[in-house]
Amino acid sequence: MGKSGKRINWSQERWRRHLVGPRKFLWPEDTVEKLAAWMGLKAGMSVVDAGCGLGYLGYTYWPYFGKDGRYLGVDMAWELLQDAAAGAKKWAGKGKAFFIAGDVLGLPFPDNFADCVMCQTLLIHQKEPGLVLAEMARVAKPGGLILCKEPDNISSMLAKRCSSLPELDIEVELLLKKATLITNKGRIKLGRGDFGIGRRVPVMMKELGLTDIDARNHDQINLLLPPYDGPIQQHRLETMKLYMGFDRDRKERYYWRKRQKEEFLAGGGDPREFQRCWRIRNKIRRICEKQIEKGEYFHSGAVNIYVVKGRKPK
Ligand SMILES: C[S@@+](CC[C@H](N)C(=O)[O-])C[C@H]1O[C@@H](n2cnc3c(N)ncnc32)[C@H](O)[C@@H]1O
Repeated sequence: MGKSGKRINWSQERWRRHLVGPRKFLWPEDTVEKLAAWMGLKAGMSVVDAGCGLGYLGYTYWPYFGKDGRYLGVDMAWELLQDAAAGAKKWAGKGKAFFIAGDVLGLPFPDNFADCVMCQTLLIHQKEPGLVLAEMARVAKPGGLILCKEPDNISSMLAKRCSSLPELDIEVELLLKKATLITNKGRIKLGRGDFGIGRRVPVMMKELGLTDIDARNHDQINLLLPPYDGPIQQHRLETMKLYMGFDRDRKERYYWRKRQKEEFLAGGGDPREFQRCWRIRNKIRRICEKQIEKGEYFHSGAVNIYVVKGRKPK
């Protein structure tokens, strides 16, 4: 247990796979272009990516700052850094893209070092996200940009579902939503992060004294419609299967159940209620699997990933 709570090893396959498939069409190309302009990315900038994983922010934004610029990805998962560095040979060519093992609570750079310090889905897993944000700001140059792309999964999970699944009794629906809130409370208590962090990031930046704070949201709706034609529909289908745990064997099911139960109980939940919710969710999953097999399943809902920028005062 370090300063940032119980840490996930993102190079383990059960976690790593979340950084591969779901990243493929995460941000549409035209959105990336708009965001790069909104952030003010320019050729020649030095960019630090805190918790870089497989280098997603690097390969996504390199075309906007990479010419004469520098990308420095930092992560504590050594195996991911090796794969990220191998991938960078393709997207950065002979450009300056570096991967460094380190802790985001003590980034391996001096004060006032980079034009831009960014992260994506990093704060959501942190015990002390405010300390990580402060560390990112320390490394940014005066007037430099701090950018965070962080989800608000709680809002998505609490939203009224629009899908082909059978309507639930309001009591059952509320039970599941309550379990979502209890589980997140427990997750925060255990130092595993806050699944609703996205919407807190602008306020955290304000408390840190950053200026020019502004925020956007992911601009697409997660729409899955049969017959799931084309690469984006196929990608959404695969991502949904991953998140719903369709391909989990006994061992994996045990792992995720244990983890969620720990969080539910830490949030003050009743073990019998956990068991009931688990059974209901399994039943929903089985119906969903059948509907997909028959090509009948659909859903539509907001994505809710906050893109928040701020500047370090000059
Ligand atoms: C959800 S992944 C996101 C990776 C990447 N930013 C992306 O969007 O694909 C979070 C990453 O942060 C890294 N990480 C988490 N806590 C860290 C810490 N204290 N120091 C360094 N890296 C950390 C993990 O190893 C993991 O690669």
